[in-house]
Amino acid sequence: MLKKEEIAEYLKAHPNESYRSVARLFETSHSFVIRISKSIKSVYENIAPKPKDQDVQSFYEWLKERSEREQQLDRKQTVANITLKESQPIGIAFTGDWHIGAKGIDYDSFEQDIELIENTEGLYSVGLGDYKDNQMPTVHPSGVFDEACSTELQDMLAAHFLARIAPMAIVRGCHEHWDWTISGKDIIGNYCDKLDPMPFNLWHGGTINISLGEQRYKIKARHKIPNESNLNTENAFRRWYDREGKADILAAAHKHDPFIKVMHRQNSQVTYIRCGSYKKYDEFGQRLAGYEGTKAIPVAVLFPNEHRFVVFEQLRDGIAFLKGVRS
Ligand SMILES: [Fe+2]
Ligand SMILES: [Fe+2]
Repeated sequence: MLKKEEIAEYLKAHPNESYRSVARLFETSHSFVIRISKSIKSVYENIAPKPKDQDVQSFYEWLKERSEREQQLDRKQTVANITLKESQPIGIAFTGDWHIGAKGIDYDSFEQDIELIENTEGLYSVGLGDYKDNQMPTVHPSGVFDEACSTELQDMLAAHFLARIAPMAIVRGCHEHWDWTISGKDIIGNYCDKLDPMPFNLWHGGTINISLGEQRYKIKARHKIPNESNLNTENAFRRWYDREGKADILAAAHKHDPFIKVMHRQNSQVTYIRCGSYKKYDEFGQRLAGYEGTKAIPVAVLFPNEHRFVVFEQLRDGIAFLKGVRS
């Protein structure tokens, strides 16, 4: 018999004996004897039973199944494998930081660029995030003063313009991530559902493997990259390459000013790309250092018969070159 049960039996048989004397007898503490005496005297009439091991195991099995079923409905992924059945060179436009719905966006340039991407043969696109401005009182309270329409309408507009450019893959920007922060909603998944063909939902970023003719191209795309610095843009890209390995193109957004750099790493060309933004009127940027966005949709032209790609900072230049090499 355990000591606790022995003491309990003894206390029941000797109700008038002092707890100190019982403690001495059983060589235990006074407080331990008091605790046992309270448990003898208390009758808990409706206490919930202790969980049984088999119930805990059963809950685990249910949890595991629920997790698997949830993942079956989750379309976020980090690798996109795409075959382009084209015999001529193709272009890929890297576009993001639209910030639709904000005040002071260069909407005229935005529309012209959308129309160009939409109507240029052989020009594909990748979305790099911040399609909508999405300022919310719970995230950046003062940001709502810079909005021109509700976030609901911004979603409608973002999906509308994404549908027009039919991107092969889209990533989540920091402004779309606020939907996740406040409600656990992956708004990029909602956009993807509305687009036909449905693009890859590349989550916070991922790898796009493109098969074009005899060539294989590897593109890395993210909205934001770690280690970003206003003093050394290239370093963040170099670190990204070091972290994730060989690729042809690393494309990012977020800083609202374009950047193109052609490098040679591991005996291959790699090009670092950052798109610009249509956000001209920018309370946040002005307060930081008088920043305003610079419009730029970089275009990479990829060749199918040799491993060769040429990158342009501006959409019009990329399209002009693409048209030249496709004719
Ligand atoms: Fe942005
Ligand atoms: Fe951003």
